[in-house]
Amino acid sequence: MTLRPATDLFSEWADVGRDEGMERGHTPSVDVMLDRLLEGWNQPFTAIDIGCGNGWVVRRLRQHPLCAHASGMDGAPSMITKAREVDPTGEYVEAMLPDWSPSKPVDLVHTMECLYYLEEPLPFLKTIHDAWMNPGGRLVIGVDHYLENEASHDWGVSLHVHMSTLSIEAWKQGLADAGFTDIHAEQVGAKEGWAGTLVLTASKPALT
Ligand SMILES: C[S@@+](CC[C@H](N)C(=O)[O-])C[C@H]1O[C@@H](n2cnc3c(N)ncnc32)[C@H](O)[C@@H]1O
Repeated sequence: MTLRPATDLFSEWADVGRDEGMERGHTPSVDVMLDRLLEGWNQPFTAIDIGCGNGWVVRRLRQHPLCAHASGMDGAPSMITKAREVDPTGEYVEAMLPDWSPSKPVDLVHTMECLYYLEEPLPFLKTIHDAWMNPGGRLVIGVDHYLENEASHDWGVSLHVHMSTLSIEAWKQGLADAGFTDIHAEQVGAKEGWAGTLVLTASKPALT
């Protein structure tokens, strides 16, 4: 089977409007993710959405009264074009992971349904920790494709894209190895035949 870059696939999805269905499908899990990310946060924050698609989560973050700046990045050209069309004054960067990093670290990092497309998601967690985040910052990751969610196992084969299939424990250990603390995992929206979105939250320790 010849694999294609996930960003090519998702650029085509944006061209035919499938980003909007994805937005609707991901909303219940992202609602929980944003709650976890912002729970008890009481100071102005900067934020980034990794693999932002059409930018809908960036716009939700920006609506928060404490949001000083929120931006998004994605490697699919048509996703970024769409984000900029909907929100011409927003900041949306077209760039490929794992090589790109923001010029300034942020307080809050959100990423939904993106990291398992990387060949090696776990080393990238250290990059997020070291290069993307301010001390005291928070990270929330949502993934539907993971070892315990058997319903997701054939997605890579049917879409002809690489997917890294990691267990919940491997994600948690990866976050710990990257230097994160306060690591929590929960499965959101689980039901018969569907193990739910794996939502991982973690903090970068504050400077003492
Ligand atoms: C399943 S979509 C999710 C989009 C958005 N987070 C949402 O929930 O609607 C995955 C996104 O990750 C992006 N992506 C995948 N691999 C990437 C990479 N190596 N570099 C940059 N973006 C990538 C894709 O282009 C795509 O827009």
